[in-house]
Amino acid sequence: VKHFYDLADWDDVSVLRMIGEARAYKKGAPAPQFPRATAVFVFLNPSLRTRVSLEVACRRLGIQSLVVQPGADAWRLEWRDGVEMSGEAQEHLEEAAGVLSRFANVIGVRAFPGGRNLKEDLSDPIVTGFMRASSVPVINLESAMFHPLQGLADWMTLYELFGEPEGKKVVLTWTYHPRAVPLAVSHSFLTAAARAGCRLVLAHPPEFPLAEDVIRAVERFSREAKGSFEMTGDQEEAFSGAHLIYAKSWASLLHYGDPEAEREVRERYRDWKVTAKKMERTERGYLMHCLPVRRNVEVDEEVLKSANSAVLQQAENRLWTAMAVLKRMVEPE
Ligand code: CP
Repeated sequence: VKHFYDLADWDDVSVLRMIGEARAYKKGAPAPQFPRATAVFVFLNPSLRTRVSLEVACRRLGIQSLVVQPGADAWRLEWRDGVEMSGEAQEHLEEAAGVLSRFANVIGVRAFPGGRNLKEDLSDPIVTGFMRASSVPVINLESAMFHPLQGLADWMTLYELFGEPEGKKVVLTWTYHPRAVPLAVSHSFLTAAARAGCRLVLAHPPEFPLAEDVIRAVERFSREAKGSFEMTGDQEEAFSGAHLIYAKSWASLLHYGDPEAEREVRERYRDWKVTAKKMERTERGYLMHCLPVRRNVEVDEEVLKSANSAVLQQAENRLWTAMAVLKRMVEPE
């Protein structure tokens, strides 16, 4: 069983084939039909793009699909081993994954980090637990570590915007956000842009590094693709000469599990916003953001609505890439 957990698990040939298929669907190529296939999507957190793009993708591919929301319309899940389940959780994910495997050909799971225990969150216990207990492929619909569906759509968008993304200066910048939000989109975007051979720059305040393992992998991908990768704490300098700015906030790994300390440090960086003035430093650079975005907090409304904003294009690409991923999951090579 090959799961879709992290883009790094999939080689260039497989990824580029999926992007090629997604681009063909976008141009009107007929979608293959899988009327005997069923997909179940388990959402432990809210979603607009991921949920709707997958449900629409299933309709286009003739796949039957349904959404399950533990704690709302299904039993609350326990994921730990060896616990006495006398609390809120009625069902262990091992049984849940085993049961869903018997009903469905593919299972999707969204499980954000708990935000209390860094080591535990970085191990993605719920999504990886489903992967271990399921006998059918599992798609990661966004975990603490990765959002591969977003990363694939972003990778496709780089090809659309640049034709050849190799050597383009692409900046992933941390942005202020009133809440601590997951690292997953940033990890998956860095992976995609490094493998696309971009001149990649990661800009963030010192208290907001990304996961060390991912940074090491991104350095390696960048070398292999003959791109480059650097990190800086100077956001304005990072914008200079950039062809693309990817705006995203994430939690402080240095103050994990301590919301008061995290908030205090986060408030120091309210000026880490993407503004029209900062965009003037770029080479008429594009703006990307995975959405949802907090207007005039993360990114100025003027920049979001500008001609160079690619946020709706990348959101649309969630549909075409979801179709390619679902096809690969229900029709293994
Ligand atoms: N970008 C993204 O995954 O959006 P949703 O959280 O709405 O699914």
